[in-house]
Amino acid sequence: MHAFDPGYAHAPYAALVGDHPGPETYPAKDFRVEWGPVFHRGRLDGSARVLVLGQDPAAHEAVTRRILVGTAGRRFQGFLGKLGIDTSYVLINTYLYSVYGQHAGNAHATDPAIAHYRHRWLDALVTHNHIEAIIALGGLADTAFRTWRKDPGSAPYDGTYEHVLHPTYPDSAAASGADAATVMKQLTTNWNTALTALRSTVTPDTERPFTPYGDALAAADLGTIPELDLPPGLPAWMRSGEPWAARRGDTPAEKRATIAVRVPESQRPF
Ligand code: URA
Repeated sequence: MHAFDPGYAHAPYAALVGDHPGPETYPAKDFRVEWGPVFHRGRLDGSARVLVLGQDPAAHEAVTRRILVGTAGRRFQGFLGKLGIDTSYVLINTYLYSVYGQHAGNAHATDPAIAHYRHRWLDALVTHNHIEAIIALGGLADTAFRTWRKDPGSAPYDGTYEHVLHPTYPDSAAASGADAATVMKQLTTNWNTALTALRSTVTPDTERPFTPYGDALAAADLGTIPELDLPPGLPAWMRSGEPWAARRGDTPAEKRATIAVRVPESQRPF
């Protein structure tokens, strides 16, 4: 039997997906609206105990139609595993659409219409699950969480909250000139501190002894995205550790318009 994500057929998610915002709310100069909104990953059946707030979908997510399935997703899946959380999670992003350009993410951090729709999701998720912890990945997600809690109409939430460094923070910091080993250690130290705090409040799916991260993420620290999280019929290599989607093009417009999808060599049955 293959497990799969049944999608958004039932309330309240059917209505949320049905009237999602488009380019009137997410300007096309700042968001890759042409690739469509990507809503979530994880449980929508009321069984989530951990709610994760990510940033925005990238190339892999544009293909799988579920968020946090690429490098960032596999790193954070490993974090959830260290918490003992194997399936009882739900993840949404700060933005429904992929951010285009360096400053676009910050420029729209508190846009009322973007926030309003995100608050509807957050309200629905905390109302229809017993969420013990909300974890924000990176600064934009932290702003999103705080903006939601300040909204006088937001649903009650009395669980714990952790803001951690974004899973690809070391990559972006190193690309801007920081020492790669230093920023990697910053991430693992930050995540170890968060895990220590969260382990006292989150009920695990599977009890496991705490194995903290070392100075850098190791291959064993990456989690596998469960088949259960993706729409039916997606091939197993889309959940593999090897990158298989990349934006390509000789001009900015062509690169924005093109995602090359390639079956990784190790995953080919031929
Ligand atoms: N992909 C996502 O969906 N969210 C992130 O925060 C990063 C990558």
